[in-house]
Amino acid sequence: MHADDLPNAERASDAVFLDSDRRDRRVSEPEPEPRSAEASERWIDRMRYFLEGDPHGCWVAVDGEQVVGFAISQNRDRLWYLATYGVLPDRQGQGIGKRLLDAVLTHADGRPGMFSSTVHPGATRRYRLAGFSLNPQMRMVGTVNRSALPAVPRLSDGSADDFDWMDRLDRRLRGAGHGPDHQQLLHNHRLVVSSDAGRRGYVYLDDRGRPMLLAAADRRTAEDLLWEALASARADTLVNCITTANEWAIDVGLAAGLHIGQEGYLAIRDMPTPAPYLASGQFL
Ligand SMILES: CC(C)(COP(=O)(O)OP(=O)(O)OC[C@H]1O[C@@H](n2cnc3c(N)ncnc32)[C@H](O)[C@@H]1OP(=O)(O)O)[C@@H](O)C(=O)NCCC(=O)NCCS
Repeated sequence: MHADDLPNAERASDAVFLDSDRRDRRVSEPEPEPRSAEASERWIDRMRYFLEGDPHGCWVAVDGEQVVGFAISQNRDRLWYLATYGVLPDRQGQGIGKRLLDAVLTHADGRPGMFSSTVHPGATRRYRLAGFSLNPQMRMVGTVNRSALPAVPRLSDGSADDFDWMDRLDRRLRGAGHGPDHQQLLHNHRLVVSSDAGRRGYVYLDDRGRPMLLAAADRRTAEDLLWEALASARADTLVNCITTANEWAIDVGLAAGLHIGQEGYLAIRDMPTPAPYLASGQFL
């Protein structure tokens, strides 16, 4: 992939995920919409960041001028992750996805790996054949019952000064720090930290107060950080990427009046399922 592929890759990604969201939509969910101009711009910015950080992990399949498939992955230290992967709906089932996944797995060079997977049968077949364990993911959805919010101690807004200990915590939980990804996350999110020496943890929140990535040294700290996220949630909220190793997040969500949903898999190879940890869909 090269920088001038980004606009075409974005169009392909919008078409791929609109089609798959329409297929997977439950009757209770709103009709999926194409990306807004701002969301397309954000996608291009994020992928440019990946392309500049680890270009050999980023691949497109092209037919003339058209991008028909893409697989964007990154090596961070001893960890490999897949940020996004898709083939245009009318090109699926012809072997393009296999070639793209082979390319990014060659780049992984045997590193342990992790990514958030859809339930697409072609995707899950490929991942299992490549040796990934598929851990079903739950999500908590709904409106927080504010009368259930407890007082949460010892939390503060974080900054780049916290990245060193955050990377050390990441290494304990997932074998590698997020490294430059922390700067990228901080650019677009609020960072809340528990920096009490013995009880460390952090959570990034988006502009609607939804937790985007949470890591903690112990379960109590993880629960405090999630309560802080739920306290800042606006209207309906969403806590994503909850594996069975992280049922503490289900228990917090239930106490806050949220409901359990099910959403795809956390695909993991050659490493334990991180806990207490809620992965980011794109930075893992
Ligand atoms: C997942 C995806 C990228 C695979 O790309 P693709 O070009 O369709 O994949 P391939 O043609 O190389 O097929 C992959 C494998 O799955 C199988 N397969 C493909 N589509 C399938 C389907 N609908 N049902 C069952 N098996 C399927 C193929 O037979 C092949 O297996 P094989 O190599 O052992 O024969 C593509 O289907 C896609 O974009 N899906 C929607 C978006 C998505 O879910 N992305 C994954 C994000 S984690």
